[in-house]
Amino acid sequence: MERFINSFITGKCEDVLKEFPENSIDLIVTSPPYADQRFYGTDESRIHPDDYVEWFLPKAIEFKRVLKETGSFILNINDKVVEGKQHLYVFELVLKLVKEIGFNFVRDYIWFNPSTPPNIFSTGKYGRTKKSHEYCFWFSKGDTWTFNLDPIRKPYSHDMLKFLQGRGKGDRKYNSRPSTHSFDCEKVWPDNGGSDPGSVIKLDYIDYIDDPGSVIEIGNTSSNDSFIKMCKAKGIAHPARFPEKLVEFFILSGSNENDIVLDPFCGSGTTAVSAHRHKRRWIGIDANKDYCELAYDRMKLEFPDEYEQMRLI
Ligand SMILES: C[S@@+](CC[C@H](N)C(=O)[O-])C[C@H]1O[C@@H](n2cnc3c(N)ncnc32)[C@H](O)[C@@H]1O
Repeated sequence: MERFINSFITGKCEDVLKEFPENSIDLIVTSPPYADQRFYGTDESRIHPDDYVEWFLPKAIEFKRVLKETGSFILNINDKVVEGKQHLYVFELVLKLVKEIGFNFVRDYIWFNPSTPPNIFSTGKYGRTKKSHEYCFWFSKGDTWTFNLDPIRKPYSHDMLKFLQGRGKGDRKYNSRPSTHSFDCEKVWPDNGGSDPGSVIKLDYIDYIDDPGSVIEIGNTSSNDSFIKMCKAKGIAHPARFPEKLVEFFILSGSNENDIVLDPFCGSGTTAVSAHRHKRRWIGIDANKDYCELAYDRMKLEFPDEYEQMRLI
């Protein structure tokens, strides 16, 4: 296993992973090609929605095999409208991953991207709004899995801090919402040192809860300027990066320092960047050699003093 640590490996993940021992990976965080028929420069591109589940399942068998018993698999994916209907391949895949492959379903997270640009649905002609979210499904291999809430807590809001100190709106012990639901606040909302992570539901009357969190709000804007400049200089860019903050949420909560984090569809290496930043070991696999080289160069840019210990295979 050691020879693969902190490396980008060119190849199809379903083949490369056959060389990995079972029970060797702590966390898989990945965003495969969606069935949106985007071109990634290899024959693995442009998968039709009707063929997607069949394409994915052999890979999922390997993911489960290489994961440790306490390991998790985070799948960032999205669907599309085909002939006027939202296609069901994402939901069909989730069902198969659980019922056929044997993963446990832990939580469905929504990644809300407030900077989703207008598209054809913004015209109102197609009977639905534009879609401003994607899915992040958390699966575990076994019945218990690594989970750390503290590193992903958000700082309390001003109002929540006042509330916890017995000041501010409402009574500290019993508080009620306009819906007349009452809560024993001391039991339900002890001071945890920060609020639950995630959140976008900003309803004024519950602003002191600071939102429970399975909705993660992150704009997918070009946040890494030096990387974008490097892509321009090289004349290559990856068409579908996910934001580092999104991966960070799952790496911090789903793994510990020195754990091994795998991205089997690593693209420009976003998972590796976040894993390295947070002192995890990592492995990235991509079918396109150019993307592996781009990801390696990105590591050079991000970690100029450490990249010599990283490899391209
Ligand atoms: C959505 S992109 C991943 C982007 C990545 N999350 C990032 O932030 O740059 C999917 C990647 O999967 C790669 N890919 C497609 N089929 C593959 C396979 N069978 N094995 C490994 N990589 C594959 C594509 O080349 C593409 O780079």
